[in-house]
Amino acid sequence: MIFADIHCHALCGSDDGPENREDMYKLINTMYDDNIRYICLTPHFHPGYFGENANNSVTAFNDLREYVSKKYSDLKIYLGNELRYNQGCVNWIKEKRCRSLNNTEYILIDFHDNQSVAEIIHGTNSILNAGYVPILAHVERYTRLNAKLKLISELKENGVIIQIDAQSVIGQFGFFTKLRAKKIIDARLADVIATDAHDTDKRAPCMIKSYEYIKDRCGEKYAKRITFDVPHAIICNKYSGRN
Ligand SMILES: [Fe+2]
Repeated sequence: MIFADIHCHALCGSDDGPENREDMYKLINTMYDDNIRYICLTPHFHPGYFGENANNSVTAFNDLREYVSKKYSDLKIYLGNELRYNQGCVNWIKEKRCRSLNNTEYILIDFHDNQSVAEIIHGTNSILNAGYVPILAHVERYTRLNAKLKLISELKENGVIIQIDAQSVIGQFGFFTKLRAKKIIDARLADVIATDAHDTDKRAPCMIKSYEYIKDRCGEKYAKRITFDVPHAIICNKYSGRN
């Protein structure tokens, strides 16, 4: 089983991912060993915290593309961002300061845990109203949303894509985060599992383990759907909502 990952921080010098090229290569090798064959790299877009990192991201991406093309014939990489929501962020998308995923209509967006449920609803609506499709990053980690299934269903019906971190599924973010992830997966409300990998240690990719857990719990079809079919279709801009 191979996987597609639409959320990870593997570009060096861009955010809180790898600090240098060697660590970037090491993380990519680990992702390859974890059977990931399509990777959309999503450095944080949060100018107030990480500064203007667009140039560093492109430099690291070009370097990585060269490394990958020499080492792996069957690994494809793409570029995007993970946008931290704030009130003016839709302008950053329109001005192309913040990237969509691989130049598609999909925007990976995350919220601070202090932000309210109302802000999550308002924020995702503002992305939709601007003509983009928000992918709500690590939905299970927002304590205020608290994996409320009705709210998550309503977000989905509105057109929001629901993403869960692979590490949450297997308990690496603690008992309660795992509980929330399980609840969302059991209700079949998760659309995508992504690594959100930052390194090869505490924030390592763990797609194989996560896939196996979901397969045992919910069956092979759903496990494949959320670890490959949907994220791959998103990267290709071919997701219809039914893949
Ligand atoms: Fe992230």
